[in-house]
Amino acid sequence: MNRKDILGIKDLTRAEVNEILSTASVMRDMIDRGEKSSSLRGKNVTTLFYENSTRTRNSFETAAKNLGASTTGISVATSSVQKGETLVDTGMTLDALKTDVIVIRHSVAGSCRLLAGVVKASVINAGDGLNEHPSQALLDGLTAVRHFGNLAGKKVVIVGDIKHSRVARSDVRLFGMLGCRVTVCAPYSLLPCGIDSLGCEVETDFDSAIQAANIVLPLRVQRERMDGAYFSTQEEYHKYYGVTQKRLDSCADDYIVMHPGPINRESEIAGDVADGDHSMILEQVTNGVAVRMAMLDLLVNGRM
Ligand code: CP
Repeated sequence: MNRKDILGIKDLTRAEVNEILSTASVMRDMIDRGEKSSSLRGKNVTTLFYENSTRTRNSFETAAKNLGASTTGISVATSSVQKGETLVDTGMTLDALKTDVIVIRHSVAGSCRLLAGVVKASVINAGDGLNEHPSQALLDGLTAVRHFGNLAGKKVVIVGDIKHSRVARSDVRLFGMLGCRVTVCAPYSLLPCGIDSLGCEVETDFDSAIQAANIVLPLRVQRERMDGAYFSTQEEYHKYYGVTQKRLDSCADDYIVMHPGPINRESEIAGDVADGDHSMILEQVTNGVAVRMAMLDLLVNGRM
């Protein structure tokens, strides 16, 4: 791979996606054997998170350490951002500290692209507003590929708060690139205009959408991004859009359930489904470390 930054699935070619996924599969086997690498020895990876995270931040830091890099975590709540420092000035400061990679999460779409334009370090988008979350899509892709092998023709149903989801936007692009048939499903109030232009079918009836699905991917209702009421009650939302075992009975026999996390039980997903035999939720978390190892390794070593 010969690029400075990874800012979105929309920037990646099919060949680059394949390279990341095949490298990540090797990394996953390494993790399972308890092995580490020194391919990033002498390098520094900085995580700069303006929004909360459990999975993404920790897995990027674990990935960097697994490759022998040092890590620096900037907690925005206790950094000079609180004294009015801009993103650009923070980025130039991190450059002067000679970090090699900045992993950024920010509430504003496009902020990672702004940062990438002013720093020498590689920039990885760990989620920017409602725009993209490329490492999440890549780990979802890795999980599906390791389960099914070839994904051509597989039916993926992404259900829930599509409107506020950067994961949905990256997943539609990624699964489409891998040859899947992708449907997004939500009440009208949670469907963004123009989502079909990314290459997916759009449904509002979940019982219809889920028929013969191979991959069902519920999304959390992102109340923190909502400025009003998008549905009446959680119970009503779960009744029409919750992933329940009864609904899953109409999927293809070999279906899997994935969720980017964090999950809200009995809202977008029933607790027994989250803990059930078809759930890949914790497998996704481990694959998240593998994908982030691959992204860091290819980005840093690919441009040397
Ligand atoms: N899926 C995801 O981005 O989780 P976190 O918010 O915990 O990083």
